[in-house]
Amino acid sequence: MKLILLGAPGAGKGTQAEVICEKLGIPAISTGNIIREALKNGTEMGLRAKSYMESGALVPDEVVIGIIKERLQQDDCKNGFILDGFPRTVPQAAALDEMGVEIDRVIDIEVADEAIERRLSGRRVCESCGASYHVDYKPSKVEGVCDKDGGKLIIRKDDQPETVRGRLATYHEQTEPLKEFYQKKGKLRIVEGQEEVADTTKLTLAALEA
Ligand code: AP5
Ligand code: ZN
Repeated sequence: MKLILLGAPGAGKGTQAEVICEKLGIPAISTGNIIREALKNGTEMGLRAKSYMESGALVPDEVVIGIIKERLQQDDCKNGFILDGFPRTVPQAAALDEMGVEIDRVIDIEVADEAIERRLSGRRVCESCGASYHVDYKPSKVEGVCDKDGGKLIIRKDDQPETVRGRLATYHEQTEPLKEFYQKKGKLRIVEGQEEVADTTKLTLAALEA
């Protein structure tokens, strides 16, 4: 299964990708996580992406396309993968086509902008593994500590309210047109994001069959 998760920042793409990749036994690939990791390690790509990412703008297409090209060549992608946060612009989607990647399904997780602002203001992420939590909706067992590896939970720089509003504007302008792009190919399924993570998972799994 080659799956794309579309949706606004904070719609729950990363949260769903984590559950579904385990169920299907395929890797979840998040361009956001890859870029954050590069930034943490101070690589050239990370430094190039830093100012864009922290201000809530998109990183230039050629950078993320390069990341994905390299990642999809790895062995664990042979039986499929979940793309979380890529493509995010029409040129990125066109690049996937040019790479000869045949996508099976595109799931768009829809959540209203007001709910997004609530979700992102309460999000906490693990400094070491990137796992995502929410102070109310998905708390860690011990406050401030990752369940998986004991890493410290921090607030992402781009989760500040002003930056979130900018990210939402960028989403509506540059990423939403992808719905039509994949609708025309007959690949798009819409899932209404639910209050409970497990309810969204059920709808998403059902949409994979539909
Ligand atoms: P990226 O890391 O991809 O961020 P994003 O798309 O903005 O998405 P988020 O990670 O914020 O949200 P999500 O939908 O995964 O939600 P989550 O599951 O965490 O990208 C960051 C930046 O990198 C971009 O701004 C850009 O600069 C750059 N970048 C990345 N890819 C790029 C690309 N292709 N091209 C160009 N630039 C790129 O959930 C959010 C919160 O809500 C969590 O706290 C979670 O616990 C909670 N939650 C989840 N589901 C529910 C639920 N059902 N009910 C209640 N709470 C829930
Ligand atoms: Zn962790």
